[in-house]
Amino acid sequence: MQEISSLSAMRAWTRAEKARGRRIGFVPTMGFLHEGHLRLVDRARELADRVVLSVFVNPLQFGPQEDFSRYPRDLDRDRRLAHARSVDCLFAPERSAMYPADPIARVAAGPMADVLEGKIRPGHFSGVLTVVAKLFHVVEPDVALFGRKDFQQAMLVQRLVRDLDFPLEIEVAPTVRELDGLALSSRNTYLSPDERRSALALSRALRAVEQAWRGGQAEAAALQKKGMETLAAPGVQPEYVALVDEAMQPVERVTAKTIVAVAARVGATRLIDNVVLGEGIAADPAVRA
Ligand code: PAJ
Repeated sequence: MQEISSLSAMRAWTRAEKARGRRIGFVPTMGFLHEGHLRLVDRARELADRVVLSVFVNPLQFGPQEDFSRYPRDLDRDRRLAHARSVDCLFAPERSAMYPADPIARVAAGPMADVLEGKIRPGHFSGVLTVVAKLFHVVEPDVALFGRKDFQQAMLVQRLVRDLDFPLEIEVAPTVRELDGLALSSRNTYLSPDERRSALALSRALRAVEQAWRGGQAEAAALQKKGMETLAAPGVQPEYVALVDEAMQPVERVTAKTIVAVAARVGATRLIDNVVLGEGIAADPAVRA
């Protein structure tokens, strides 16, 4: 596995591989890798000849009160996991290489970034799209992979690529869960055993909404109420339960394509999850913790 930290060496690596006719698949991450990230690597391997994984905790997407400084970091561990999963190139730039100065040119993420996560985390998606645009320019992949777990992010990246004509494809892969339903997240490492149990309220709320819908309830307001009741478990501070379409617009009557998105705090940890009603949580791949 090649390990690269300089932006120019990264671009040279991709160009050399492309000159040999190889297709490049790219998985951007903030590291502290888990099976959710690694399944994106597996999928990239199916879609491309070479797989680049980036590890960069992007300061631009964290608010002043958020967890940038305590976000879990362990590059040795990431290196081992990436190597074991046959990543061809690990790109781990320093902050000073990515942002020699605070960037003044940034991607404006538009109205789709002002709802749900963007409403609670102002500026978050501008920070995400700015780093993703930069990574796309440096890595120059043919296909980039994102997880459904962060569906608003995935939708916004798809718009970024379409709206600004980046010459690559975006593939969105299903949410990987633990056997009991908890969506894998680097932030799960913050949870105490009690909080880990409380955190199951997120996937339970999604399941409760899904069951009520399958039972014939199609009114978004009633389903939202049901979801909120389930989410409001001991130890959990619900932030939202939202029923939206793919453009992040609230719906009144739900369909199989409606997305149920939830966010809550469990102790000091913010967690999010979502499901496409017609697909259902049970269809998501599960792993043992
Ligand atoms: P990070 O949270 O590290 O996630 C990297 C990628 O892994 C994202 O596409 C995310 O949706 C996906 N992912 C995380 N948990 C997942 C799960 N349980 N199942 C499937 N996919 C999962 O998202 C980011 O980093 C950053 O915002 C980034 C895009 C790298 C820009 O800084």
